[in-house]
Amino acid sequence: MLDIHSHILPKMDDGSSSVEESLKLLRTSAEQGITEIAATPHFYASQYSPQKFLERRAACAAQLLEALTPGLPRVYLGAEVCYFDGISRIDELEALWLQNTNILLLEMPFAKWSRRMVNEVAEIQNRRDTQVLLAHIERYLPFHNSDALQALRAQGVKMQCNALFFLSWRTKRKAVKMLQRGEINALGSDCHNMTTRPPRLGEAIQVIQKSVERDVWREFQRNLPDLSGKGERL
Ligand SMILES: [Fe+2]
Repeated sequence: MLDIHSHILPKMDDGSSSVEESLKLLRTSAEQGITEIAATPHFYASQYSPQKFLERRAACAAQLLEALTPGLPRVYLGAEVCYFDGISRIDELEALWLQNTNILLLEMPFAKWSRRMVNEVAEIQNRRDTQVLLAHIERYLPFHNSDALQALRAQGVKMQCNALFFLSWRTKRKAVKMLQRGEINALGSDCHNMTTRPPRLGEAIQVIQKSVERDVWREFQRNLPDLSGKGERL
């Protein structure tokens, strides 16, 4: 099973603070049945250029890869790209795609999105050979963006949600309903550490398996993006 959103690279962002912690996150993920995991550190255009970000990511990944042991999930590199004005026009967007795919994991502002923002996301989706995957969509729902989400879905934008969406009693029903309707396209733990934001995707998958018909779950898994580089894109 794929975890498409995590902060497991040591000392890269506000996620794992050491190689040891990264290994614990990976071990815990493996115990939960995760076989592949995308390391998606935060990319903030105001902080680093894409090139500098990629250099730092490569250095952090090298430290982790050196320490990997058999039986851990396979790690792919990516980024959780924070939306900014003009994002659809930067040249280096492709460099921020998830490894072996054309997927841009995009984090949107936690506020009501303006029409201009929605249009800019649609522009990335339509003009740049990029598949936009909105990160943790459940976190935008309180801002009454369901119309905006529908509009983006109609443009081909895909949606990722976090494990917690299925684990909180407040949101579980909504999460299951959205998955059944095909409004969720990928799942992520969004794990940052072993204490306040640990990997819990395995638990979420158990909830899903208990709550949705087997065919729905099978179809969902069949349509997951393939990060292995063997083909199929989202
Ligand atoms: Fe994240």
